[in-house]
Amino acid sequence: MTSGPQTPAAKAAGEFTRLHGRAPAGVWSAPGRVNLIGEHTDYNDGYVLPFALPHRIAVAAAPRADGMLTVSTLGDDGGCQHAEPVAVADLAPGVVSGWGAYPAGVAWVLRDHGVRTGADLVIAGDVPAGAGLSSSHALECAVALALLGLAGLSPERPDIARWVQRSENDFVGAPTGLLDQTASLMCVSAHVLFHDVRSGKSEQVPFDAAASGLEVLVIDTRASHSNTDGGYASRRAGCERAAALLGIPALRDVDVTELAETLAKLPDELRPLVRHIVTENDRVLQTVELLRAGRLTEVGPLLSASHASLRDDYRVSWKEADVAVEAAMSAGALGARMIGGGFGGSAIALVPVDLHDDVERAVVAECAARSLTRPRLFTAVPSAGAGRDS
Ligand code: GLA
Repeated sequence: MTSGPQTPAAKAAGEFTRLHGRAPAGVWSAPGRVNLIGEHTDYNDGYVLPFALPHRIAVAAAPRADGMLTVSTLGDDGGCQHAEPVAVADLAPGVVSGWGAYPAGVAWVLRDHGVRTGADLVIAGDVPAGAGLSSSHALECAVALALLGLAGLSPERPDIARWVQRSENDFVGAPTGLLDQTASLMCVSAHVLFHDVRSGKSEQVPFDAAASGLEVLVIDTRASHSNTDGGYASRRAGCERAAALLGIPALRDVDVTELAETLAKLPDELRPLVRHIVTENDRVLQTVELLRAGRLTEVGPLLSASHASLRDDYRVSWKEADVAVEAAMSAGALGARMIGGGFGGSAIALVPVDLHDDVERAVVAECAARSLTRPRLFTAVPSAGAGRDS
């Protein structure tokens, strides 16, 4: 019998024992995500519809009596990177930079929620980094569960999501919303998570693409993205300015039936942003209706309309995504769109299973024809959310 490849949890545990000469007290892991639809709606108090990827980040952890936090990350090449050890009591925004800020920020925020002891953390994972699949949030969520687990605490998942968001906003310095943490912490396998950010209410909506002869193909364009470089923040600021001008708490409060009269009240430069948010929220609701009715085959045009809106109105798409989406559609995809914050990362295509090879070939060939980096494609199946592995 041959053994399969090691899971991130097994890798993290093995590396922990090798580095620290003792077994970890536990291993926790959290997945990356695909957002089926509902992009940039989260920080507008709107709707999102993500599912968890099978790809995960695992954290093997044990407490330390001296109050220090040590973090090591196992790379794909088997090498380990070590962040500068830091006392949990000394953590403050600006104290830790680089990749170490992600786990340190979580330890910083959890100090306010009953976690004050030090810990050794060893991280391993297979969520592609910089691919818009939420590897940094998977890392943060796994670290949060590990530190809370070591402290014997198990708060409600929506609370953990908000704490992780605070660490990302205030410690890492990325003004992101709640989509990614919520997806990583609350998704369950075989479902998409319909989440209303304002009310905090969630519904697990069954999602079995294979039963409809379909699959969700992820196209990692390998144009790497970042949510800290200004493009994301400027879109968010524009939305907040529009809401303030309209005298409403958030753009979520504009119904799609009031769109034209609402746009007329705004300066030209804010209109496309508002149009995207209002129509995108409506597309999420329409998608959920179709899924509840078992009509996944009809969702494609909504995905493609989302892409057009993100490209033309919100202006966060990028060349590789536009090329991939167009090539996938010309080869028979039912719908396709960029996902995540934008400016790089991944796209998805809803594809009839028997056209998988045609779509993959078309996307790869079109990228080659335009001298773009060869994308990586894989089929994504809704998988389990974050939890304890051992
Ligand atoms: C990034 C952010 C999320 C969300 C998406 C866009 O992934 O982390 O909060 O805003 O972009 O939908």
